[in-house]
Amino acid sequence: MRTVDEQGYHFEEWLTPEQIAADVQQVAKRISADYHDKEPLFVVILNGAFVFAADLIRALKDVRCEVTFIRVSSYFGMSTTGQLQFIVPLQQVVENRDVVIIEDIVDTGLTIHQLKAHMRAEGAASVRVATMLYKPNKLEYDDAKPDYTGREITDEFVIGYGLDFDGFVRNLDAIYKVKE
Ligand code: IMP
Repeated sequence: MRTVDEQGYHFEEWLTPEQIAADVQQVAKRISADYHDKEPLFVVILNGAFVFAADLIRALKDVRCEVTFIRVSSYFGMSTTGQLQFIVPLQQVVENRDVVIIEDIVDTGLTIHQLKAHMRAEGAASVRVATMLYKPNKLEYDDAKPDYTGREITDEFVIGYGLDFDGFVRNLDAIYKVKE
């Protein structure tokens, strides 16, 4: 089994590149079935989701789609005015569009909860969420439950395949779990 040591923590390989690829195919198949007769707008949440998104959108079959990118503040995602803080703002008009948000991991669901509210306020026809990983035990916002999940995970810290540890290790080709 492959291991990684990063900033004093020990990580062990949890999902191999082959397992990840199988999960991505499974998600892509479901999205393809649901969206082949629509023209969805995929909204990729930077930075973490770029790896998953690149694999996922190339695995879609017969889906005419657009892809755009956003980055929101990790500082609770909200300003004191209650507005979502966009570091990279939404460049596309979402009004009347079928939006699919692509996320790396849904944890408390706060990011998704706020983004969904924003998309609805902007007049999106529908908003769904595709995520590589989902921590159901941690979910605090019901409406943030993802529609398409690669794999569920208990409350453990993971890295690789886009997921970072203080900005590093996004480039690992597998997903690694921290070991005590
Ligand atoms: P949420 O808004 O609480 O759902 O947080 C989601 C974000 O937290 C993800 O996009 C990641 O950036 C980060 N995150 C949550 N769990 C992990 C993890 O295990 N490893 C790396 N990043 C994580």
